[in-house]
Amino acid sequence: MAFLRFQLLALLCLTGALEVFVRSPQKAQVGSDVLLQCTFSVTSPPVDPKFLAILWRYKDDIILRYDTKGLAHHPRVSFNGREAKTGNASISVANISLRDGGIYKCTVIYSPQTKNEEIALEILVPPVIRIPNKVATKGEHKTLLCSATGFHPSIINITWMRDGDKVLTDSQLGKTQRNDDGSYSVNSTVTIMPDSNHKNQSFTCRVHHDALHDPLEESFQLVYKDAKWNRIIVICGAVILVMIGVILFIFISRKLKNLRKAPGRFKLNDIKWPEKLVDGEEIILYCIGSNCAENTQVTWLEQRGSDEPEIIRPSSGQVEEEEALLDRSYEICDNREGFRSYSSRLRFIFSLEKHKGVKFICRFTSDNETLEKHFHCKPVYAKPSLVDRVKTSLCVSGEILYSLRLDGLYPRDIQILWTCVTGERQEIISSEEQLVEYSPLTFSVCSEARITEKVFTDPTCKVRVTWEHGSMDQPQSREMSILDPDFRWTPVVEAIQTPRLFHGSPIDLECKISEYFPDALTVNWLIIKDGSEEETSLPENMFHMKSKRESDLTYSCSTILTDLPSLETHQGVEYICRVQHPSMKTHIETRTGKLRVMAKPHPVEPIEMTLGDNSRVQFYLNLQGFYPKDIEITWDSEDGKYRYLLSPTNTVTRGKDQTFNVSSVCAVLGPLFINPQYRISVQWKHESLDVPEVRSWTWRDLPWRPLMEDIIIPELEAGKEAALTCKFSGYFPDSPSVRWIKKEKGNETEVKLPTDDYKVLYSKSNEATDKTFTQVARLIFNPHLERDQGAEFICRVTHPTLEEPIEKRTGPLLTEYMKKPQISDITPTQDGMFELKVDGFYPGDIDISWIQRAESSGDQWQTLNPYSGNIRRNTDGTCSMTSVCEYYGGNKDKEKYILMAIVKHKSLESPEQKTLRLESDNGKLKPERKLLPFL
Ligand SMILES: *[C@@H]1O[C@H](CO)[C@@H](O)[C@H](O)[C@H]1NC(C)=O
Ligand SMILES: *[C@@H]1O[C@H](CO)[C@@H](O)[C@H](O)[C@H]1NC(C)=O
Ligand SMILES: *[C@@H]1O[C@H](CO)[C@@H](O)[C@H](O)[C@H]1NC(C)=O
Ligand SMILES: *[C@@H]1O[C@H](CO)[C@@H](O)[C@H](O)[C@H]1NC(C)=O
Ligand SMILES: *[C@@H]1O[C@H](CO)[C@@H](O)[C@H](O)[C@H]1NC(C)=O
Repeated sequence: MAFLRFQLLALLCLTGALEVFVRSPQKAQVGSDVLLQCTFSVTSPPVDPKFLAILWRYKDDIILRYDTKGLAHHPRVSFNGREAKTGNASISVANISLRDGGIYKCTVIYSPQTKNEEIALEILVPPVIRIPNKVATKGEHKTLLCSATGFHPSIINITWMRDGDKVLTDSQLGKTQRNDDGSYSVNSTVTIMPDSNHKNQSFTCRVHHDALHDPLEESFQLVYKDAKWNRIIVICGAVILVMIGVILFIFISRKLKNLRKAPGRFKLNDIKWPEKLVDGEEIILYCIGSNCAENTQVTWLEQRGSDEPEIIRPSSGQVEEEEALLDRSYEICDNREGFRSYSSRLRFIFSLEKHKGVKFICRFTSDNETLEKHFHCKPVYAKPSLVDRVKTSLCVSGEILYSLRLDGLYPRDIQILWTCVTGERQEIISSEEQLVEYSPLTFSVCSEARITEKVFTDPTCKVRVTWEHGSMDQPQSREMSILDPDFRWTPVVEAIQTPRLFHGSPIDLECKISEYFPDALTVNWLIIKDGSEEETSLPENMFHMKSKRESDLTYSCSTILTDLPSLETHQGVEYICRVQHPSMKTHIETRTGKLRVMAKPHPVEPIEMTLGDNSRVQFYLNLQGFYPKDIEITWDSEDGKYRYLLSPTNTVTRGKDQTFNVSSVCAVLGPLFINPQYRISVQWKHESLDVPEVRSWTWRDLPWRPLMEDIIIPELEAGKEAALTCKFSGYFPDSPSVRWIKKEKGNETEVKLPTDDYKVLYSKSNEATDKTFTQVARLIFNPHLERDQGAEFICRVTHPTLEEPIEKRTGPLLTEYMKKPQISDITPTQDGMFELKVDGFYPGDIDISWIQRAESSGDQWQTLNPYSGNIRRNTDGTCSMTSVCEYYGGNKDKEKYILMAIVKHKSLESPEQKTLRLESDNGKLKPERKLLPFL
């Protein structure tokens, strides 16, 4: 299927594609140049010159031939090969003469198709009028004659008028006569009765003709003469004319007799040929025979090398044009030239390939006599044709390489000269030529010249290449200049990236220029201030330029302008990057367009918050130093489900340097922040900001964090109710949570406080002037030496504004706690037994020792061994103990003894002593009876 479609397409391309259009008929004034318009179109432009041939014929002549081999045409025909490639096959015929009228045929061959169109050209030649006789004989009828001659075409109107405007209706137009040159003549007559008074009358002969823009006319005064003299003159004239005629007749008849009598020898002149034979040009060979008989026959033959000569058969007019054009075609035209002279003309388009080394033979046969003349095709030439134009490319070594290619020349000798022309000065540039065989017969030459970069920095310099070849009448040349419109390396300027200008911040503008050569670029930066037309050049120290060679060998350059825009001086400024290069007559430039200077708003941070009446939180957003004035500030809040727009109070004020400040105040109910999802945000949009700026707050961002004071610890005493005070303040919102925690001695785990033993009391207030809250949490308990000894209490506070809870610690309590023992007196219990009670001491280590002495024995104390009972624990953690001592005293009766108990305890600075005086009575010791003072 696809294949089929392709075929169909190919068929469409090849058939019905070529169309030829002409304008016909056309008219042309004799002596003018006429453009014979013939255009064509192909379905798939552009036209490929490989398949194109154009042929123009007039009558039997080919007046133009244009094909792959080149262009051949009649000298009066001009044609533009470049136009042909765009579908314009028109020709122009110069200096039109009357013989040029008729049918022209425009043939376009776009291989394999051929199309013809005909153009009828009518030649317009204006008439010339003449009135031969302006004299009338008195009293006789007069026939006035107006003769119009040499006009074309034949249609003509002639009118007669008397005295300017009276049309004479009885005029007679004679028979139109055709002249030898193809033009026409006609007579118009009118017969008038002369005026009775013989008054001179005026007559006008007026001629209308196509070749005339305005009618042509001639007026004259009819003059009356007397009759007699006229007749005499006419008779004399006639007599003289008859005599001249007789003399002439005698003379001519004698001459003719002489000619007939001496016929002379049949003779053939050398073939006449053009000076040179150039490929593709029309050649005419003339062969003239004299004294030829009536039955003279002419044959042309051609002979290749040593082959047998072949008779040339002229191509008939009916041959397909294509064949006639592309194949060799000969035209033979035989003519009798005057009396017994015979000429034959062989006309053909010379082709180097076909005709090189060919010998043409002209053979006349007259009265069984045959004469031949030979002509060797020599010298033969083929014209070099410039392939494309002169090509240019860049060399790594920094030169421009010019290369010229000429194809199809023969013979190979050619002179190519490159010069560098600057004004009057010419300098020869060395070049290199390379010859290659192009087709079996012709040559192709490439010439290359290198021109240094420096030469081109002078735009007046031109590079000229001239070539001269035997086939050409005069040398041809081409001139290239850096200013040529097709110079390939003119700079290209990229648009400047339009910047945003900010007040007080430096800006870099980059202008990139590329694809140029040579490296002779001038860049200027200019500035146009707002409201002014004036361009100001910026000083060179404000920008810098860097050029480099690209991989394609052209140069590129980047220039960067650094400026410091300010609101006062740069508002509406336009920057221009202007570039000049030798390859351009004028500069090129790129502009930024008018630029606005802006200034970005700067928030005063941190954004201030205060607590107001009725638990309101107020936010103060201060944005400073922005320009222009328009700014959009939006406050909103959301609670996890809904958004609410808030209405702030905005106040715009003038800042410094033409900038503006705005203060936006927004208040929200503080308790809303207790919802952890509650969020308040503010957004400001300004032209100078690419994206709006946003700030938002949740309870975590509020600045009012609780501050804790150290825990107040009173003097602790076992068993005596005490309160630990934990105070924190300065927080908002009112949603703290506080916990008391205990850490027992030697144990790191936190213990929950049993509510039976520990009570917590809270008291709250927000009396602070800054509207923040304060709370006091008291832990009330009875310190217990066993339970609370060394324990630590922690007061821990959590608040939404805190990421981590904060706490205060008491440190280990009651570590160094001591209590003094309550020591009883020594009491005798039973015979020989004494008891000492020690109670309420802490810690439990206690040392009780007993000693005794007899009073008489001076200071001689003796130690006793007591029974010390176990230490008992009391409910509040203190200890008690009873020490018992057995003592019986000595053998002496009535002896007095002293018993002493010494208690040593950590809480006592010095050991405490208890004494009991004893006396012996009947072998038993009894406490000494004290003598009452009054006894
Ligand atoms: C065709 O080319 C001729 C020159 O050869 C020019 O004068 C004429 O205007 C061209 N016609 C069109 C239609 O381009
Ligand atoms: C034009 O052609 C006529 C003959 O037809 C000739 O006399 C005349 O010189 C030519 N004019 C030009 C400018 O060639
Ligand atoms: C016009 O008249 C003149 C004079 O009689 C004569 O010589 C000429 O041939 C005439 N021309 C035509 C076209 O009849
Ligand atoms: C007519 O013209 C002729 C010649 O110019 C002149 O001699 C004659 O006086 C004129 N006659 C009149 C009546 O104008
Ligand atoms: C000649 O006259 C006829 C009739 O008056 C008119 O139709 C024709 O167009 C005229 N021709 C010229 C060339 O003026």
